[in-house]
Amino acid sequence: MTSQVVGIDIGGTGIKGAIVDVKSGVLLSDRVKLPTPEGGEPEAIVATVIELLGKLGGLDKKASIGVCFPAAIVDGKTLSAANVSKKWIGLEAEKLFENALSRDIHFVNDADAAGIAEQRYGAAKDEQGLVIMTTLGTGIGTALLHRGHLIPNAELGHLEIDGVDWESKASFAAKERESLSFSDWAERLQRYYERLEAYFYPKLFIVGGGVSKHSEKFLPLLKLTTPIVPAELRNNAGILGAAALAVGD
Ligand code: BGC
Repeated sequence: MTSQVVGIDIGGTGIKGAIVDVKSGVLLSDRVKLPTPEGGEPEAIVATVIELLGKLGGLDKKASIGVCFPAAIVDGKTLSAANVSKKWIGLEAEKLFENALSRDIHFVNDADAAGIAEQRYGAAKDEQGLVIMTTLGTGIGTALLHRGHLIPNAELGHLEIDGVDWESKASFAAKERESLSFSDWAERLQRYYERLEAYFYPKLFIVGGGVSKHSEKFLPLLKLTTPIVPAELRNNAGILGAAALAVGD
């Protein structure tokens, strides 16, 4: 078997990928990023992933590939579609990628991949209690991790507050859409994380997504009982987790 492993992170806005050293959790190539095609349709996304793989310098034809995607995924099938085309709902997505790329693919939820990466290489490495990984991007992704185990497909970004799917109010995309200041946005995040605390009593919250690199602008504004820290792997967590899962460890 080849030792090369690639992680691909498909998001509502961009598709990123890199060759990864899954032992150390380090990127072995530049990170390539392409915009998610308008409408987020399955065939167009597959074509973009193929284009992205072509841009990864020195890629072995037989490299193992793990793909993470913003939907609930059970047995390789996408069961939801929040920020991509509704055509994904009920689609045999893993098979679609396997056929297009002529190899076995491991296909997982994006927040689950990010959580696995933080547990293995990052901020959750030494935590034995319940960890809730949250990604603040186009949507809000969540992963539940406990003692090395992942409870897959926790779709807690869609938790309703005041009868509203809170992802539509508190994702980073919502902050941008409504031109919210960090302090206005933090008020919405406060309500969100408070609710998670009340339901789960976690030991640690981790905050990922591109905006986590500016965590000093909003995390100190949150008043929570649970420690809340930025993702150590920043925006590479999805790539790293997808790659780690592709080789089954
Ligand atoms: C989706 C999740 C995904 C999250 C982050 C949500 O809208 O429902 O599956 O993990 O966005 O991309």
